Amino acid sequence: MSPEQTGRMNRTIDYRTDFYSLGVTFYELLTNKLPFNCSDPLEIIHSHIAKQPIPPHHINPEIPEAVSNIVMKLLFKTAEERYQSGLGLKADLEICFKQLLNNSKIENFIPGKLDKFSQFTIPQKLYGREKEVASLMSAFERVSIGRSEMMLVAGYAGIGKSCLVNEIHKPVLQQCGYFISGKFDQFKRNIPYTALIESFQELTQQLLTESSEKIIVLKQRLLEAFGETGQVIIDVIPEIEKIVGQQPSVPQLGVIESQNRFNRVFQKFIQVFTQKERPLVLFFDDLQWADVATLKFIQMLMLDDSQYFLMIGAYRDNEVISSHYLNQTLNEIKKAGTIINTITLKPLNIKDVHELIIDTLHTVTEKTKILAEFIFHKTQGNPFFLTQLFQTMYQENLLNFDFNSGTWQWEINQIQTIGITDYDAVELIVRNIKKLPMKTQQVLKLAACIGNRFNIDILAIVNEKSQSETASELWEALKVNLIIPLSDNYKAPLFFDKDILISLGCQELKVSYKFLHDRIQQAAYSLIPESEKKQTHLKIGQLILKSYQTEEIEENIFNIVNHLNFSTEFICDQSQKDRLAKLNLIASQKAKASSAYEAALNYSTVGLELLTPSSWENNYDLMLTLHLESVEVEYLTTNFTRAAILTETILHNANNLLDKVKAYQLQIQFYMAQNQMLKAIDIGLEALAKLGVPLSAAPNKQSTIANLPQLEDLENFPVVKDPWGASTFGRNT
Ligand SMILES: Nc1ncnc2c1ncn2[C@@H]1O[C@H](COP(=O)(O)OP(=O)(O)O)[C@@H](O)[C@H]1O
Ligand SMILES: [Mg+2]
Repeated sequence: MSPEQTGRMNRTIDYRTDFYSLGVTFYELLTNKLPFNCSDPLEIIHSHIAKQPIPPHHINPEIPEAVSNIVMKLLFKTAEERYQSGLGLKADLEICFKQLLNNSKIENFIPGKLDKFSQFTIPQKLYGREKEVASLMSAFERVSIGRSEMMLVAGYAGIGKSCLVNEIHKPVLQQCGYFISGKFDQFKRNIPYTALIESFQELTQQLLTESSEKIIVLKQRLLEAFGETGQVIIDVIPEIEKIVGQQPSVPQLGVIESQNRFNRVFQKFIQVFTQKERPLVLFFDDLQWADVATLKFIQMLMLDDSQYFLMIGAYRDNEVISSHYLNQTLNEIKKAGTIINTITLKPLNIKDVHELIIDTLHTVTEKTKILAEFIFHKTQGNPFFLTQLFQTMYQENLLNFDFNSGTWQWEINQIQTIGITDYDAVELIVRNIKKLPMKTQQVLKLAACIGNRFNIDILAIVNEKSQSETASELWEALKVNLIIPLSDNYKAPLFFDKDILISLGCQELKVSYKFLHDRIQQAAYSLIPESEKKQTHLKIGQLILKSYQTEEIEENIFNIVNHLNFSTEFICDQSQKDRLAKLNLIASQKAKASSAYEAALNYSTVGLELLTPSSWENNYDLMLTLHLESVEVEYLTTNFTRAAILTETILHNANNLLDKVKAYQLQIQFYMAQNQMLKAIDIGLEALAKLGVPLSAAPNKQSTIANLPQLEDLENFPVVKDPWGASTFGRNT
């Protein structure tokens, strides 16, 4: 019984378990003994998991060491260390056999060499990027002595931007810096701050593994930076609560004041992590998909005279048109004098491609050079495309390992005729996905709708199957590297269903995956017929909505609403439309609270579109609140005309004076914001008159002199509780 067969290793069982069993058989054949001599079943299991058998040549010195080593290689505890193929084992046994025939004895040799060569693994090494890595590291060194800089990495999809920046993760940690990263998603552009939240989740996880003394110091520093306003940060990055504990709720402020507070707290927050002894590298990947709020946030960070801070942004420069908000942001940052350097990544050259091929095939010949030229020519040196093409050749048996010669074999002509070289990168992947089992294809399509990263619980919900079923459907995609797990525990759902995991005390088991590359997500997504895309998103949104409690709905509001908004035209029932309009209102308010006004506007607009004029009668409160919300966010995004039209609609439809006053209040605010003070006063007076407090627009001197109380007496004055009075004194005074 192999260690993984004991069921206690958290490992899947595959063909390599038989190599272990074969090892036991060989062991017994050679030594007349079993590797572990015990009768108690529990002890046997323990031995197979944890004990080393005595090597056969120690038991019987007549057994050649080479043969003994082969047996021991079969008996390795983890399958990865055993032989990976029967042919690899056969090759080693044949070496022994030939030596015995020719020399009547077997010299020692390292077993598994050919077995290893026969494995097709493209090294996870960066080729041809030495200069670029060095310039990123020197930027880090410059910020380590007190500066703050921004570094951009630009280039086509698949050119190697993400890999390049991640290459400095380790060295930065070694030099005592923080390295955190977050990625924007092509389908989540409406969700504010996704990458920011992700990066600080990562940071919190790193911090929580530090010593308790360090955590206490950090908590202290954070609390000092926050003052009474920590909740502003927690609202955006909930993880921070794990370090600082619950924070008092923050007072509601006017929009401008709350935006200022947001910026101020975040600046202080970031400063806690940008210290001389520990500079911060913050990497935002795929900036071409960043939301406006994050871009404004980046601008604020870079304009602030921060120190010890390196901001790295990767983006597809060819997909960013000049009017893109990213360009505007970068221009503003440059104008303010902050250094922005750009590394524009070029394709790999033929020499790099050849090197990659040599390292994968463990050989260098004229033939490898021709293969390199061929692959280079087909892919223009785009590393993503070329690694996918190379991998496909192997999967299609166009590259075969010959154990006799110990080398890889291929025929360029045969490769050319099979047709895989006529595709572009996405087409090639589409073709490869189509070769997977239908169930795997189906679950991949759903995953693609969820995002570049997805976790098993959501995927299982939308797949309408158990987590373990879903995980096993994904497995085939995992095996061919189309998706990769983001945590070590990814095999757990393969064996156990959620209920069992919970009964084992594993509620927190969050198994996440990501698509190896956005191009793969894109390819999987493209497999959903155009006519079904919207319905798929609708169904996903509905399934998630159905499975969540109110609190979870609010936590995941953006994700849910995004799916549902995709397909509003398929929602016919007005009560369902009302529900979605309400969700959009919640999303808009949440976005607004974190200064993400463009996103807020998007949600409130969709919300309004879902309602009809008759909603003023049937669903008055929702209609009014959504209108007020819309006016506010239109005004915050400087769409004053639209804000004015919407206020008129409110004034026309509001069924009581207090509600009308809310519209007047907003009108006053946005006239003031446009510096039209007289208009603002007129409206104020009109509202006051309606409230029964007529004031003159041109007061005489006497009426403006009042007996004002002393400041210190103010707190003894009663609070206005009556809504009429509150409206009167509200913004109109
Ligand atoms: N310099 C390189 N050498 C070898 N392979 C690379 C290199 N850069 C990227 N790759 C391969 O290409 C794939 C795509 O790279 P990635 O950094 O994700 O591209 P981008 O972020 O520009 O879209 C990676 O998964 C990796 O396999
Ligand atoms: Mg990338």
